[in-house]
Amino acid sequence: MMTPILLNEYRRVVFFTGAGMSAESGVPTYRGRGGIWAEYDWEEYACQDAFDTDPRKVLDFHEQRRAKVLACQPHAGHRHLATLQAAHPGVGIVTQNTDGMHQRAGAKSVVELHGSLWRIRCPRHGTMEDLASPAYARRDCPHCGTPLRPDITWFEDPVNAAVFEQARNLITQAELFVAVGTSAIVYPAAGLIPLAKQVGAQMVEVNVDDTEMSRLFLERVREPAGTALPELFLA
Ligand code: APR
Repeated sequence: MMTPILLNEYRRVVFFTGAGMSAESGVPTYRGRGGIWAEYDWEEYACQDAFDTDPRKVLDFHEQRRAKVLACQPHAGHRHLATLQAAHPGVGIVTQNTDGMHQRAGAKSVVELHGSLWRIRCPRHGTMEDLASPAYARRDCPHCGTPLRPDITWFEDPVNAAVFEQARNLITQAELFVAVGTSAIVYPAAGLIPLAKQVGAQMVEVNVDDTEMSRLFLERVREPAGTALPELFLA
């Protein structure tokens, strides 16, 4: 087992999280056992073409996901990252998740590479927060009546350039980079892992399995996020 890391020995730390970060809360991952994409075809539920073809079906799917996430609670790992970030100004959280669990655990600064289940957007009037209940408050833009779509980076969508730049800036300054619960196969997000290696960050992977990028990590913690994070990363 890895020796616990004292974060105050680092100026800049980035926790890079994926769906495995929320698995112990009961939020399904995308791949592996019980993965969402084994049950739902993303081409029918999570891409612009699907939305253009049948917005109701796509929004209904995302409302189901909102309901499932609302029924789950952040776990000790989410809470621990929020505590570390409150105690240490150099701790960044970059997530591929859209579930908002880091924020519900109290994290104040989270870079959401793939958007959020809790925002919806009009192509002309931008994004609007839509919190707290499974059902979207509205499905058409209050300004122009255009159908609203989830503010999520779907397959075949470009990642928001400003958000990606924010993530890159955090990672290029990281002295410690901790990947938590990601299969590291979806780009451009996955490309941030070799970037961290390239800038010389200490590399730690927290995952219950090996991934495509495990070879880039000096430390590979094969423990669930909810137990490994509080044990191994101390303020
Ligand atoms: N603790 C740590 N890791 C875990 C746990 C756990 N309790 N449970 C599962 N994992 C790991 C799995 O081994 C796997 O490597 O989490 C990873 C989940 O992988 P994916 O389901 O592929 O999720 P992610 O890497 O976030 O997917 C990236 O793909 O579908 C798109 O946009 C979606 O953001 C998502 C992106």
